[in-house]
Amino acid sequence: MAVATHSKLDAERLRTDFAVFEELVNGKPVAYLDSAASTQKPRQVLDAMRDFYEHSYANVHRGVYRLAERATTGYEGARRKVASYVNAPSEREVIFTRSATEALNLVAYAWGLDNLEEGDVVVVTDLEHHSSFVPWQYAAGRTGATFCVIPIDEGGELRLDALDEIERQGNVKVVASNLVSNTLGTVNPVQALAAWAHERGAIMVVDAAQAAPHRHLDVQALDCEFLALSSHKMCGPSGIGALWGRRELLEAMSPFNLGGEMIRSVSAERTTWNELPYKFEAGTPAIAEAVGFGAAIDYVSEVGLGAIEQHERGLLEYTLGRLGELPWIDTYGPPPERRAGIVSLNVEGVHPHDVAQVLDWEGVAVRAGHHCTQPLMTKLGVSATIRASFYLYSIQEEVDRLVEGLVKAKTSLG
Ligand code: ALA
Repeated sequence: MAVATHSKLDAERLRTDFAVFEELVNGKPVAYLDSAASTQKPRQVLDAMRDFYEHSYANVHRGVYRLAERATTGYEGARRKVASYVNAPSEREVIFTRSATEALNLVAYAWGLDNLEEGDVVVVTDLEHHSSFVPWQYAAGRTGATFCVIPIDEGGELRLDALDEIERQGNVKVVASNLVSNTLGTVNPVQALAAWAHERGAIMVVDAAQAAPHRHLDVQALDCEFLALSSHKMCGPSGIGALWGRRELLEAMSPFNLGGEMIRSVSAERTTWNELPYKFEAGTPAIAEAVGFGAAIDYVSEVGLGAIEQHERGLLEYTLGRLGELPWIDTYGPPPERRAGIVSLNVEGVHPHDVAQVLDWEGVAVRAGHHCTQPLMTKLGVSATIRASFYLYSIQEEVDRLVEGLVKAKTSLG
């Protein structure tokens, strides 16, 4: 995907919004290279949540008093921001969930269990996070549908030539794929997958947890049926995510969670469901977290997604260049032009957890492990990798510290 030229973001200036960068870890400033796991939070988001709790807090959709009205306005305002962020045709199609994981489970349970049967085919990819892999594997197992996985090539990109063989397995009903792989950073051809799915009467479910923080999202241009995103990966609080879904599908689906708020009327004889989106929001939602999610969307949008993408591309190219000087480093994943700001690597002869330990002594925070992608690890022939991932506040100096830490790990443990 081509990166257009945008006004450059000033990461050093943005870092002053994040108190965490004043922290010392082992006497050193933290080099935070784990934004794919979760991002740090700017004071604008924290202030918005504190202000909301201090001046506008009550439960939502229930009270007629002033505070309750302010709370509802804050919560529904956040829904409008999410709708606009993903270019949803209607804010009623945006459902707040606990996380992107819960959003994907909602679709697998509420759509999958009622719409799949023997002879149907559920398609995922080798690049899926467990949250997009396991719910569909489970739904296929429960309904008797066949579960198929699109394989990857040597470079960590989807092998679309495998779709012909997959199609021969039965009626393709669902294709589920992430837009950006959380482990390799691969940017997947979701539009092409959606077109292929639609030609076969199937739905397209997109896990955008790793894409939403870094690139423009447009559910209408992607032409998918469902898309999941998460607040904590884009400067917002944890505990809240969102599902966008096509209205006609959401309306036809049974609820996922049952309880307060999601009903229209309840009696011993019969209970009926509330309208969208409330039908899928049982119980008291994460209210202040929604407000924080909205503030995070404002923050990220003000910095500019084009500028974020360009900044991360620069860091990715720089990192791959520096790592290329070290012959004992193995890196995984496609070239920078088809990849987001994520670098998975291994140090020959040293276990990734030991490398991460040495890096921690140097104040460098990375993730080591299977990154919730065990099928992908199997394909790569490794049990784990070290993963460095960037965001709008990442700087070159942190990459230099990563490389120095890797050299230390190799010389002391290799
Ligand atoms: N999904 C998160 C990651 O990739 C936790 O690290």
